[in-house]
Amino acid sequence: MALATPRVFSGIQPSGELHIGNFLGAVQAWVEIQHRYESYFCVVDYHAITVPYVPPELRSRTHEMAISLLAAGIDPSVATLFVQSAVPEHTELAWIFNTITPLGELERQTQFKDKAQRQESVPAGLLNYPVLQAADILLYRADSVPVGEDQVQHLELTREIARRWNARFTPDTPFFPEPKALLTPARRIMGLDGQAKMSKSLGNTVGLLESPDEVWAKLRPAVTDPKRVRRTDPGTPEVCNIYHLHKAFNPESTVEMVAGQCRTAGWGCLDCKKVLFEGMERSLAPMRARAADIRSRPGHVEAVLGDGAATARRIARDTLRDVKEIMGLAPDAGLRPRAVK
Ligand code: TYM
Repeated sequence: MALATPRVFSGIQPSGELHIGNFLGAVQAWVEIQHRYESYFCVVDYHAITVPYVPPELRSRTHEMAISLLAAGIDPSVATLFVQSAVPEHTELAWIFNTITPLGELERQTQFKDKAQRQESVPAGLLNYPVLQAADILLYRADSVPVGEDQVQHLELTREIARRWNARFTPDTPFFPEPKALLTPARRIMGLDGQAKMSKSLGNTVGLLESPDEVWAKLRPAVTDPKRVRRTDPGTPEVCNIYHLHKAFNPESTVEMVAGQCRTAGWGCLDCKKVLFEGMERSLAPMRARAADIRSRPGHVEAVLGDGAATARRIARDTLRDVKEIMGLAPDAGLRPRAVK
C-alpha cells in the first residue's frame, strides 16, 4: 500500500534552543525537502518529558522551538508543523508498538544507555522512547526521515517495528513502509569544545538565534587543531572543528582558501574564526530578523501550530482507525469504522 506522494516526517525535542548542530544535521534539510515532499515536522514534547523538567518551562520552550523552526525557514504553507502532544494518536500507536517491540532491542539503544547512566532512577519512558519515535514516523506512514547521525539507530528500530507489525498483522500487503534515514553531509556536528557532539546538555552549542556578540564570544575560544600552539605553527584543517564548520557555512572557494591558510600558517586560528563568523552571520542574520518578525505577530505561532495539529490529526486518525480495525481493537467512539483498503 505505497502512498502516491513520498512523505517525510521528522521531530525535534523542545529541550533547549535550536542550535547549529540541529540546524546543519537536520533542520536545514527539512527546509529544502518541504518543497519536494509532503512534510510533517513535529516538536516532540512527549519525548522531552522522559527526563526531569519544569512544566511551565516546557511550554515556553515548545513555543520557542516553533519560533526557531519558522525562523529557520519552515514554511507552514507547504509543510505541517505541530506539537506532538496535540495529536494523541502518537501515544496510542506507541502503546500498540510496545506490545511487539523486543525489550532487548530497547536496552541496546545507545541513547538510552547514555541517558540512563545520568539518572538516579530510570523511568520506563526513557527505555520506551524509541517506540514513541517509531509511532511518530509510522503514524504518517512516512518513507523518509531527515535526521542527524545520532538518530540512525532509532531509525533502524523503527524499521524493525514496521517489519514486525507488518509480518504479524498484514503479511500479504505490508501496511507500514520501512522508512529510511536521510542524512546530510553535516550529519554529526561537534561542539565548540571539539570533544563531543554538539548538544544542549553538554553546553557546547551555538544557538541559531543568538546575537552576533554571543556567537563570537563562543567562537573566539573554540578549540582548534591542538598542534597549532603558536601563530606560526602550520595546522591540519581536517582535524579542526572550525574547518568543518567552514564547510557548512562558507562557499567552496572560501573553504579551499581556509585550508591553504591553515596548512601554511598564513592565518592564525583567530583570523580563520573571523572568516567563519562572517559566513555564519550571512546565514544567521536573516533568521534572527525572521524570528523578530514572528514575535511581533501576536497569536501567529499558536495559529500555525493549531492548523498543523488539525492537518496532522486527520492523517493520524486514518492510520489509527485502520490499525485498530486490522488488530481487532474497538473503533474510536467518535468515528465510524472505515473499510480497510
Ligand atoms: P533532537 O531533538 O536531539 O535533535 C533534532 C535533530 O537534530 C539532529 N542533531 C544533530 N545533527 C548533527 N550534529 C549534531 N550535533 C546534532 N544534534 C542533534 C538530530 O539527529 C535530530 O535529527 N529523538 C529525536 C527526536 C524525535 C524524532 C522523531 C526524530 C522524536 N521523534 C521522529 C525523527 C523522527 C531527538 O531527540 O532529536
